Amino acid sequence: MKSFNFKVSTSRTVKAALGRDMDNIPAQFQALFSGADKICLVTGSDAPPSLRARALRLFPEGRTSQFYFWLPPSEKAKTLEEAGRLCAFLFDHGFSRNSLIVAAGGGAVTDLAGFAASIYMRGVNWVSVPTTFLGQIDAGLGGKTAVNLGGAKNIAGTFHQPALAVCDTAFLDSLPHAELRSGAGELVKYAMIGPAALRATLLKHLPKAVSGDKTALTACVSACAEYKLKLVAKDERDETGLREVLNFGHTAGHALEALAGGRLPHGEAVARGIRAALVISRETRCLDAANFKKLYAMLDSLRLPPARHVRRDLARFTALVSKDKKARGAGNRFILLEGPGRPFPAENIKPALLKKAFAEALK
Ligand SMILES: NC(=O)c1ccc[n+]([C@@H]2O[C@H](COP(=O)([O-])OP(=O)(O)OC[C@H]3O[C@@H](n4cnc5c(N)ncnc54)[C@H](O)[C@@H]3O)[C@@H](O)[C@H]2O)c1
Repeated sequence: MKSFNFKVSTSRTVKAALGRDMDNIPAQFQALFSGADKICLVTGSDAPPSLRARALRLFPEGRTSQFYFWLPPSEKAKTLEEAGRLCAFLFDHGFSRNSLIVAAGGGAVTDLAGFAASIYMRGVNWVSVPTTFLGQIDAGLGGKTAVNLGGAKNIAGTFHQPALAVCDTAFLDSLPHAELRSGAGELVKYAMIGPAALRATLLKHLPKAVSGDKTALTACVSACAEYKLKLVAKDERDETGLREVLNFGHTAGHALEALAGGRLPHGEAVARGIRAALVISRETRCLDAANFKKLYAMLDSLRLPPARHVRRDLARFTALVSKDKKARGAGNRFILLEGPGRPFPAENIKPALLKKAFAEALK
């Protein structure tokens, strides 16, 4: 097990444990678990039995005040109503400011449970236990919590760091191939925006990771999680531009997810959003043809299935892109690339180019 402490502000340190088959987490982080008067495990109702069994090991032995809360599957969990239902459950069962929420699941579970933890009694401790590849390299880390609103992604949310993030790649043993491939969409993002050493590690392990190889998955999770947590420590609240590069592929990606009504896995949407960002980078002459080809080949290696569920509605795509919260008041805002490891923000991409980017994303 690799264990990290990240100071995200003068008053707050986030702990992270990364590895495989990590034993007795409650004993290793005793102050956090034994200081809690009650613990609630939150997970998805469609979680496989093996996930639940492993997650139950996160309860300290012999504790009586343990509760379970099931969320609807995937994006259906990310609503204000579900956040309210979880808060009401905690209140009905006497949870206090000294209680602990343990969120074990994909990004939808950690986003929703983290959000509820941030508003219940103005904030209680939570432990993020991402159980998908995408969650372990990205969604379960960094303290951004959210629900979807009005058919758009992550419109209401908070920054609320988990006291501890546990990325145990043994959870990934039950993950279907489609979810591994979805995670690889975010992995390609890191390979494109990150430094050369990170890119080399990820490209070396990517093919085996997508086929479920345990060593490759653990190496990828460790490299990406460490990179993301270091960025977050420098720009926790996404204010200086350092953290913003993690949005690469997400402006178009979030619009595609909305156009698919929740039926396009997040990582696949990001991979398609990266296609759009690469085309915009090339057409605005920021990215030369050789680098475009090299970067595009990384996406091709994912062999994405056809985007069957995405509505071919350019007007709605354009509207969603401009309503994305990352636009910050501009017409739209994308992270583009000048080359591998050289991301930068660009605003007000013209409609004709958005049309090209949309077509490319749907290929
Ligand atoms: N907060 C952030 O910084 C951040 C970053 C990236 C993505 N996200 C969010 O994360 C969400 C996507 O997360 P995701 O890709 O994990 O999808 P998900 O949460 O929808 O989970 C996908 C499916 O995998 C199943 N599952 C989870 N763990 C499993 C396991 N170990 N074995 C078998 N099945 C398992 C789930 O039950 C679900 O059906 C999106 O809502 C996205 O917006 C958040």
